[in-house]
Amino acid sequence: MDQAPSDAGATRRDLLARLALGGAAAAACAGLSGCALFMSSVEPDITLIVDGGTLIVPRSILFWERGLGNAMVVGLSGRKDKLLLLKTPEGEIVALSTTCTHRGCDVRWSSDAGHIVCPCHGSEYDLHGGNLKGPATRPLQHYQVTERPEALSIKLG
Ligand code: FES
Repeated sequence: MDQAPSDAGATRRDLLARLALGGAAAAACAGLSGCALFMSSVEPDITLIVDGGTLIVPRSILFWERGLGNAMVVGLSGRKDKLLLLKTPEGEIVALSTTCTHRGCDVRWSSDAGHIVCPCHGSEYDLHGGNLKGPATRPLQHYQVTERPEALSIKLG
């Protein structure tokens, strides 16, 4: 069966458009392991400078000290990883990487769910980064927090 010329042209254009999109996507993902085309990222609430592997977070900027909630995202100047800082109902302060251990999307605190969720494929983590629901099978990276009177000291390693 012959195809009308206009249809054939449309088909060729569609194919070329698909190839161009596929090539751009492949180029965007080149060299990235576990690349997700629509990687979900969260904007930090604040970005701080890391000094020699330790992050100092003044208490005056902590959301829970200012009545802004019990979770905040801290960007790390010069690094692509971010921290999710949480204050648990028991008053413990927890520092976790926002990077989901499944394919690297940024996780978020869900006050509705009462735990951490990943918007990409639905993994869920408890307040200490432990796995509640897959597909992620490894916990979130957890960082040691030392509480001082004026600031938190977080060892990033
Ligand atoms: Fe897949 Fe988080 S990246 S669940």
